Amino acid sequence: MTTFDTARGAEELRRAAREHLWLHFTRMGQHEAPIIVRGEGCYLEDIHGNRYLDALAGLFAVQVGYSYGEEMGQAALEQMRELPFYTNWSYAHPRAIELAEEVAALAPGDLNRVFFVSGGSEAVESAWKLARQFHQARGERRWKAIARRTAYHGTTFGALSINGIPALRAPFEPLVPDVVHVRNTNRYHRPPDETEEEFTAFLLEDLESAILQAGPQTVAMVIMEPVQNSGGAFTPPTGYWQGVREICDRYGILLCADEVITGFGRLGAWFGSELYDIRPDLVTCAKGLSSAYAAIGAVIATDRVMEPFLEGAAMYAHGITFGGHPVQCAIALKNLEIMRRERIVEHARDNADAFRATLAQLLDLEIVGDLRGTGYFYALELVRDKETRATFSHEECEELLRGFVSPRLFERGLICRADDRGDPVVQISPPLVATQREFDEITGTLGEVLSEAWERLG
Ligand SMILES: Cc1ncc(COP(=O)(O)O)c(C=O)c1O
Repeated sequence: MTTFDTARGAEELRRAAREHLWLHFTRMGQHEAPIIVRGEGCYLEDIHGNRYLDALAGLFAVQVGYSYGEEMGQAALEQMRELPFYTNWSYAHPRAIELAEEVAALAPGDLNRVFFVSGGSEAVESAWKLARQFHQARGERRWKAIARRTAYHGTTFGALSINGIPALRAPFEPLVPDVVHVRNTNRYHRPPDETEEEFTAFLLEDLESAILQAGPQTVAMVIMEPVQNSGGAFTPPTGYWQGVREICDRYGILLCADEVITGFGRLGAWFGSELYDIRPDLVTCAKGLSSAYAAIGAVIATDRVMEPFLEGAAMYAHGITFGGHPVQCAIALKNLEIMRRERIVEHARDNADAFRATLAQLLDLEIVGDLRGTGYFYALELVRDKETRATFSHEECEELLRGFVSPRLFERGLICRADDRGDPVVQISPPLVATQREFDEITGTLGEVLSEAWERLG
């Protein structure tokens, strides 16, 4: 990679950023935005020529890494020449058809119908609306959604209402009513003598009693990630997904797997639904569908969900201009072609154990309480006391995570996220092309910075 070429250009860009750009989820008064100018493989370069290992894959999104711009760009160019835009509102075009067919082929079971949107929040929003209309088309009025605590599902009003993160919800209340939040699969703070079977039973009982309390005939959808990101890569205990599926079937509720992060290889399988045999009625996806080279997401529905919409004048009364945009579809198609050709999901599957084993060295540190996750999707939970698993105070989180760990990791050339939406964790989720070299670099830098953090705590 070469350096951004004029110092004057850099200064001007920084000034323009300070004066005009509004960053997402950013304390604008306290933050000078790093300006990223280039990417290659798993690495990024900033405007000053500093290199960073992107152990967050954009935002859990750039599956193939940053080196496929030429090929993706060529696909975009050809599509621009042929048909730069047409809509999916009652029209089709070849790229949307081909991409829908490809996604249906990759998705497990009879998840055969694909509704395109522009991103993850829109996918979640669309899934909830679809679930409501599905029940309505069958003569039932169901509207409630059930999601898990601390889970993140996006920022549009419906998706935000589904979020289980109080701090994100609070500024915008009142939200869309009637979302019930149930326990997530965080096992780290459960009693140490609880068996996995007991834990599963405990979670399923909580889910079922929430449904009974809400009134099962009013619940449209249960929505959960195969592995929950927010809170730190909570994997499901044995039997959990089978139990969730059974409960949804018992009460006629649609099960939506939110695979915005886990879809397209993140867990070392094309979908988390396949890995855990979830058998969802709906899947929401975005990020990895195009490796984030394009702004595209989708809701994937089973034949059973589609069925009432194929009858008479029935219609899913929802749409957005850019859903199924031909250029975005062409890029996503190229991404899936690259992922198949380069065997990227197989690479993630085959290297996941080595990745985990490398990260597990960090468990020797006093400050690291737990390593969770699977595939190329991990989190380290940071603790004040390893024996008691005691966590940090709000002030310590501010000082330690925001004030020290995040900026120091960046300074040391590693992008990963220190996150305290639940208990404090460091999230690690590199492009799926990362190899042992990157695992070692991630682990080495994290080890040094976390040791420093512990020393600072005193
Ligand atoms: C599980 C999950 N669902 C939905 C979303 C929202 O996606 P987007 O940011 O593309 O709107 C995210 C974003 O990180 C996510 O992680």
